Amino acid sequence: MEEIYKRRSVRKFLDKPISDDDLDALLKAGMNAPSAHNLKPYEFVLVKDKNTLQALADTAIHSKMLNEAAAAIVVVSKGDNEQTPHWQADCAAVTENILLEAISMEIGSCWLGGYPDLEKTAKEKKVLAIPEDYQIFSVIALGYSALDLKPNDNYYPEKIHYEKY
Ligand SMILES: Cc1cc2nc3c(=O)[nH]c(=O)nc-3n(C[C@H](O)[C@H](O)[C@H](O)COP(=O)(O)O)c2cc1C
Repeated sequence: MEEIYKRRSVRKFLDKPISDDDLDALLKAGMNAPSAHNLKPYEFVLVKDKNTLQALADTAIHSKMLNEAAAAIVVVSKGDNEQTPHWQADCAAVTENILLEAISMEIGSCWLGGYPDLEKTAKEKKVLAIPEDYQIFSVIALGYSALDLKPNDNYYPEKIHYEKY
């Protein structure tokens, strides 16, 4: 629970690598997310190469922090709406699991949206040589935070309806 409340989007990173074991633990956390019919319609591209991270950072103004990130995990899916109609929900659960495992390891992260922004993801797909028939759901920027971000205090009673809407 602590991780849920501590998590913030980190957009400034220290120049410090993340170990392969820690990156693997993040991927494992992602793969332990719930998945509709347990189909797990996702795959990952793990990026550590600085030139590739820079190329990804250059694909969109809101992705700039990738130029300082130690790594990125790109969550991809065939995005088949017939076979796996819940693929986006599955990929979202995977992404959030990775963010929470990261904070538990004191690694900062930022969720960068992909699908359905096809213009942006086309550029990212080119950088990463992702097959045409795959979609990028999210790019997760990872690194040790250079900032001391305070936890959010999100609670909105007006969003809650009791018993019926
Ligand atoms: C689907 C989705 C897409 C997002 N895309 C971006 C993005 O492209 N760039 C970015 O800096 N943050 C992005 N974010 C992070 C949000 O801006 C952030 O979660 C929000 O401002 C709340 O701040 P917090 O995460 O620190 O609580 C995205 C978050 C989600 C869930």
